[in-house]
Amino acid sequence: MFENLETLPPDPILGVATAFREDRSPDKVDLSVGVYKDRSGVTPVMRAVEKAERALIEAQDTKVYLPPAGAAGFREGIFSLVMGDGAAALRPRAAVIQAPGGCGALRLGAELIHRAAPGTRVLLSDPTWPNHGPLLSGGGLRVESHRYFDATAHRLTLQPMLDALEAAQAGTVVLLQASCHNPTGVEPDQAQWMQILEVVASRRLVPYFDIAYQGLGDDLDFDAWPIREAARRMPEVIVALSCSKNFGLYRERIGALVVLGDDAGRARAIESQANKAARAMYSMPPGHGGLIVERILADPALATEWRAELATMAARLRSLRELLAAAIAAARPGFDASWLTRQRGMFSLLGVPAEAVRQLREEHHIYMGLDSRINVAGLNEDNVERVARLVAPHLAG
Ligand code: LMR
Repeated sequence: MFENLETLPPDPILGVATAFREDRSPDKVDLSVGVYKDRSGVTPVMRAVEKAERALIEAQDTKVYLPPAGAAGFREGIFSLVMGDGAAALRPRAAVIQAPGGCGALRLGAELIHRAAPGTRVLLSDPTWPNHGPLLSGGGLRVESHRYFDATAHRLTLQPMLDALEAAQAGTVVLLQASCHNPTGVEPDQAQWMQILEVVASRRLVPYFDIAYQGLGDDLDFDAWPIREAARRMPEVIVALSCSKNFGLYRERIGALVVLGDDAGRARAIESQANKAARAMYSMPPGHGGLIVERILADPALATEWRAELATMAARLRSLRELLAAAIAAARPGFDASWLTRQRGMFSLLGVPAEAVRQLREEHHIYMGLDSRINVAGLNEDNVERVARLVAPHLAG
């Protein structure tokens, strides 16, 4: 049966991390997978998470299955976190389903869309996170893309995006990264978001938000703003969210799918269909991560501590951008790298040619995606000057 299967090339992101782990050089720098790192290169367990986890283990008296839609407290807490002040008013028309990570949520959303309207097209930004296509097409959607980014100017190309949305048929799904765009780091400003949402609404397209970095861009509210604005003006909104990065719960695989329908009856139908789709894939979600998030969000002292830790992480990412921009300017006088400081989240797409990316890896032990995406959290005060010096000559512009 398996004689026709060929060995596949390594994953474009995870494969780089594997190569990094195998590199024995003391100079190696990992700018690959999107995980937060502190000054010493460690991805820490957040203090609020540690406390919630300890309390959870002390209190738990069973490992029995969660309900198919997940832990009730997690679902309410995470819905409030993403919808903010408007959550209570929106809740009756919302289906909220706990999922195994943001990936699980994205895939579950695709399965749900496919159940509702087989053959639906979904528009992705070009470039986008390389796993978006497989997750969504695996769920049965027809994946297409629109231009998003000018790699030389390091800017959003808004008009081609608006043109693609204008040309799309009603019912087309548009995948929108709410903040901290992966891989570019370039997000629309609020005026540009208004233009995008205007076209999405007027063409009766369906917004499907991916929010994997809430709180790591500007702050928890600002980063979720486009979702709240869409929820205010559109009858149907889909959101896949992840707690991997903002709670540092990567390996616990915790995320959620939130779907707004026209009314409460529609929301019940959506939730029952999503539960059925989940049952056919993984039955019910894993519990541990969701129960940790539930505890943090329900406990005012833990929630305050978590928010403060998250704000510190976001501030560090912004300051690393400043550091890198300054180090590049020092390494290449006259070159303006200020675009780095206007981007948000973990990523920046540097625009370094693939050949130079390979050379940086093989000769200098600096690891980034072949598309030259870097995770700025992999930089620190000790390595930033070396990275800047070696990268600067290859930057376009
Ligand atoms: C990334 O983009 O590096 C992360 O979201 C990890 C992943 O699964 O690709």
